[in-house]
Amino acid sequence: MADLATKIKLKDGHEVSLKGWIHRLRKLGDKYFVVLRNSNGLIQVVANGKTVTGKLDVEASISVTGTVKKDERAPGGFELHAEKIEVIGESAPDWPFHRYKSVDMEMDYRHLWLRSSKMQSVFKVRSTVLSAMRSFFEKEGFFEVSPPIFVSAACEGGSTLFDLDYFGGKAYLSQSAQLYLEAFVPSLEKVWALTPSFRAEKSRTRRHLTEYWHLEPEVAWNNHEDNMDLQEKLLKVAMKAVMEERQDVLGDFEDRSEVESWIKDKWPRIRYDDAIDEVKAEFPKIKWGDDLGTEEERYLVNKYGIPVFITHYPRSIKSFYMKVDEENPKVVLNNDLISPHVGEIVGGSEREWKQELLLENISMHKLNPKDYAWYLDLRRYGSIPHSGFGLGTERFLVSILKLEHIRDALAFPRFMNRVYP
Ligand code: 4AD
Ligand code: MG
Repeated sequence: MADLATKIKLKDGHEVSLKGWIHRLRKLGDKYFVVLRNSNGLIQVVANGKTVTGKLDVEASISVTGTVKKDERAPGGFELHAEKIEVIGESAPDWPFHRYKSVDMEMDYRHLWLRSSKMQSVFKVRSTVLSAMRSFFEKEGFFEVSPPIFVSAACEGGSTLFDLDYFGGKAYLSQSAQLYLEAFVPSLEKVWALTPSFRAEKSRTRRHLTEYWHLEPEVAWNNHEDNMDLQEKLLKVAMKAVMEERQDVLGDFEDRSEVESWIKDKWPRIRYDDAIDEVKAEFPKIKWGDDLGTEEERYLVNKYGIPVFITHYPRSIKSFYMKVDEENPKVVLNNDLISPHVGEIVGGSEREWKQELLLENISMHKLNPKDYAWYLDLRRYGSIPHSGFGLGTERFLVSILKLEHIRDALAFPRFMNRVYP
């Protein structure tokens, strides 16, 4: 848990005023021991009853004025000796986490659980990851764009599509901004977007949300190798930012030193064909043409102990927009990036940029070309080779922080059985 005194550089003898919330409270005789929390972390405050105005309770908001005292026994090495504690907003005595804690409670009272040290630490890391990625894109000359969320056709297949009544007609919630990002390519060449994406996932697993934050770049002229270079560079920048800038909270997670080697070493690129051969050792029934499931991904990623690109998947199990490999038309120029503790975190590919071939893919995937008329237009007016990918930001957090479940990578996670609070 973040230590407030270190964060704001308190020194012995400082006179300070701090505002925050009562994280923990203990009364011994006439003395109060208050652990004060604010966005910088925690500090222990010692107060005499006489110095308090208002009613102290866990989660009451307070303003404290006092003197900083060095104390080896205090967490963080400093205590605040209060001369004055003023209650700003009282807290009801039935704070739900007084009673007990459980995963269900953490979900039912999510709006309050966000104040826990664990959530505070996750969201600090999340913010660091997003800001590192944003500044990476800025430095590399990308433009950030804002694609729509209401859409008229599927990007990633009908089975996970949310549909809705749109003034008597049909519309869908976006599964990916990709098709719209492709429309920006002839205008801005290098673009990216961070948007909510929606998947009507019926599966209840530790890595599936129905709403997640999807980070997607799309780049003119890049081929599928360039596309993997970009993924590796971007994700390493984000990992590095976490390891360098978030030491204040990394202690709240399991030992994360393995991430140092993920940053240092080159990530292997293996072809789907070879991946299938490798997993056969453990899953003898798997055959060419099968998708790699959670178990197979876990087996591979444990074997390598580092993020791994798997490339050239069978055309039949991947999306219609992926470019077919001219050297072997049974496979596409794509990659999944699988990462320790979670499996797939990125899906990317070179896009089919020739109109005839794209139409062929659309019919092979039994889609209606009418639904993609505007997308096909992009191939009619100065089409070019281009590539892009999508990163699930929550899955990335699960991997780098070794979180038990994807619910803890997001403040208000949505699943099949949950849209509250
Ligand atoms: O592999 P996906 O489906 O790829 C696309 O949507 C492409 N159109 C992206 C692109 O090329 N611009 O999804 C991309 C990533 C996955 O690798 C995963 O990390 C995340 O999105 N993702 C999910 N995360 C949480 N819950 C779900 N239900 C997810 N579905 C996909
Ligand atoms: Mg995928």
